[in-house]
Amino acid sequence: MRYDSVTDVIGGTPLVRIDAAVHGLRNIDLFAKMELFNPFGSVKDRAAWNMVRHRLAGAAERAETVVELSSGNTAKALAVIAGMHGLPFRSVTNRMRVPEIKDLLLLLGAQIDELPGQSECLDPTDTDDPLTRMYHTVSAAGGGYLHTDQYFNDLNVEAHVRGTGPEIIADLDGRAPDYFIACVGTAGSSTGVARVLREHDPEVTVVGLVAEKADFIPGIRDIDEVHEVGLFDPDVYDTIEAVSSDEAIDGLLTLVRRCGTLAGPTGGGAYQGAVRYLRRLDAGLTGRRTAVFIVCDRVESYMSYLRERRPALFQQPDRTHSVRTLTAEDLAATRTIGVSDAQEWIAKENPLVVDLRSPFAYRALHIDRSINIVDDLFAEMLHGGLPFGRRQPVLLVCPVGEKSASYAALLTRMGHPDVRSLAGGVIAWRDAGAELVRD
Ligand SMILES: Cc1ncc(COP(=O)(O)O)c(C=O)c1O
Repeated sequence: MRYDSVTDVIGGTPLVRIDAAVHGLRNIDLFAKMELFNPFGSVKDRAAWNMVRHRLAGAAERAETVVELSSGNTAKALAVIAGMHGLPFRSVTNRMRVPEIKDLLLLLGAQIDELPGQSECLDPTDTDDPLTRMYHTVSAAGGGYLHTDQYFNDLNVEAHVRGTGPEIIADLDGRAPDYFIACVGTAGSSTGVARVLREHDPEVTVVGLVAEKADFIPGIRDIDEVHEVGLFDPDVYDTIEAVSSDEAIDGLLTLVRRCGTLAGPTGGGAYQGAVRYLRRLDAGLTGRRTAVFIVCDRVESYMSYLRERRPALFQQPDRTHSVRTLTAEDLAATRTIGVSDAQEWIAKENPLVVDLRSPFAYRALHIDRSINIVDDLFAEMLHGGLPFGRRQPVLLVCPVGEKSASYAALLTRMGHPDVRSLAGGVIAWRDAGAELVRD
């Protein structure tokens, strides 16, 4: 095989059967679409290339900078492609949560701008949000930016209409699978593939997988966040189900240890979500069916993510003081407090207000006299025991009140008598017109 450019190697990934002895489905042949074999390592190579390739001619002469709001695989692919064409690449994000990917981007010469997003997720309608302001700046024509705009760009979907979808049909001897299961980030891959499969066979069932709320699976969104994506159309999916990071890691371990497939967490989530969905149907089927799921990227970038969630895999002791060990009873015991009650409580009892958002979000706007301990660091602190005296009341604050509720439950379980979580987070505080300050 000989190619003139590494970008010619993008796509054409294999469809590989998962051994029935592993997945245990009796009437369904399950196949993995191996997007991890793309040259820069993920399904996003297709979208990245399709979004820039027509715009590269003359871009260096016009001194353009390729820019994208991504902290993951799209940024990685664009950084490589930009470098190949003598263009700088800028990754604008509110928080780089996967350290290996941040390091790789820096190695590739990317400029990383971690900007404060109040909700830590782009909300294009919030004109006060610095991330949104940046989004509008780079989107403006003639500004020296080649903004690929993956969350709104139809060329993202088109990459899969032209490539991924037809490849699946060709590898199934001209037939569409009965079931197609994919994780949803920008929604580009699931929307594009679903379109092609349905044109071929309107009966195809499409299952979209999102992360469970307040959980984190790098590369995909939760059900609320996904609605903020311009490309997302709920009608594409017959059903949308949530997978937890725990399920994603279980799936990853099956693929890595038993299937010779070095999948990352979303590949694991897609496998686990697919098997969970298909098991419910399997026993009732009379004829044979075919299902396809996408393995989006590779495991190597996620070692710190895995170590933090499953220390035992790396021969490290389990962490007892972790939000991941919370039970339903722990969560039921959480004390939440609404904005006006919180204002009153602050005025009367002066609780320590701990803002768990990123330093960038905190720096932009925060509750007066609050302190900032980003949630990752806070989690680390709690492993050592209670970080506050028991007589110090504590109010925990996060973007929308979900993370803070988990940490309030954990602190309560650890024996703190008066820790509360701000219901609705900074967003509710802002929407109520309560004062936010900037240092
Ligand atoms: C690791 C990973 N898996 C899955 C996805 C989802 O793909 P899409 O953006 O096409 O919905 C992404 C997207 O960024 C990703 O990075």
